[in-house]
Amino acid sequence: MASDGRNVYLITSCKGGVGKSTVAVNLAFALALCGETVLLADCDTKNRTADLMLGYDGVGMFDLSDVALGRVDAPEAILQDPRCERLYYCTVPPTGETLPPSDIADAASKCADAVNAGCLIMDTSGGIEFPLSVADDIAYEAVIVSTQSTPALRAAERTGAELAAHGVRRMRLIVNEFTADKDAATIDEMIDGARVPLLGIVPYDERMRRGQELGMPAAAVEDSTTPRAFYNIAMRTLGHEIPLLAGIRVKGVRKALPQTRRREADTM
Ligand SMILES: Nc1ncnc2c1ncn2[C@@H]1O[C@H](COP(=O)(O)OP(=O)(O)OP(=O)(O)O)[C@@H](O)[C@H]1O
Ligand SMILES: [Mg+2]
Repeated sequence: MASDGRNVYLITSCKGGVGKSTVAVNLAFALALCGETVLLADCDTKNRTADLMLGYDGVGMFDLSDVALGRVDAPEAILQDPRCERLYYCTVPPTGETLPPSDIADAASKCADAVNAGCLIMDTSGGIEFPLSVADDIAYEAVIVSTQSTPALRAAERTGAELAAHGVRRMRLIVNEFTADKDAATIDEMIDGARVPLLGIVPYDERMRRGQELGMPAAAVEDSTTPRAFYNIAMRTLGHEIPLLAGIRVKGVRKALPQTRRREADTM
């Protein structure tokens, strides 16, 4: 949703550990590679992790509390990604100082203004306190992240319902860690369960998990299908029509053939 001509995406779910930061980091990277100027704001006041996933850990910098409290100007709290010049980053403080969510959102907007970002992506902690608190201050689209597990799906539905009850109208779902296992929820079941339109799917990818631990997000790596998943999602957010599974390989256990058909197949 445009806010002062800017698209603001707030990555959320009331469940922790479903991949919100993974989506925030990689969507930001993919949008920047698509030519957008992007500010990724780590607004997870409980446990910021985007810096680790991007390999920025240990880079000393001012943060959004410094901007909010007027200790520095916005540009001093912004880091430009060394791999992608259109990607900028700012963050909440690691510990201690807690700010009201509206102050954090306001400081993030100032940072986005400072780099003339067309796109602001805000990563948030599990729980919907942050999106609910800033709903009146900033026009955003909520990107709800869920895995295929029943608790995550239930959390996605609750997140969507609570945001809708507070007037948030623009919401889309990303299904993360997707597999085609026969016991897992199908894409249709996910959409029906979450009651939120689908923005995209991200396959389960063990390499991505390991890469992130080394500070190398999947979207920065060319030889895997996971970056393609984020590219597809980025292009959809920019209004392009991209088929859901274009260029994506999904791991999964195919259903076993029934015995009779298996015997027929053996004799062919
Ligand atoms: N598609 C995926 N394939 C494999 N591993 C993934 C995938 N998405 C996320 N992970 C891994 O799952 C773990 C949790 O992901 P992440 O930190 O993004 O979740 P989160 O929702 O931001 O968690 P929190 O609520 O604690 O902020 C991480 O180790 C991450 O690397
Ligand atoms: Mg997170």
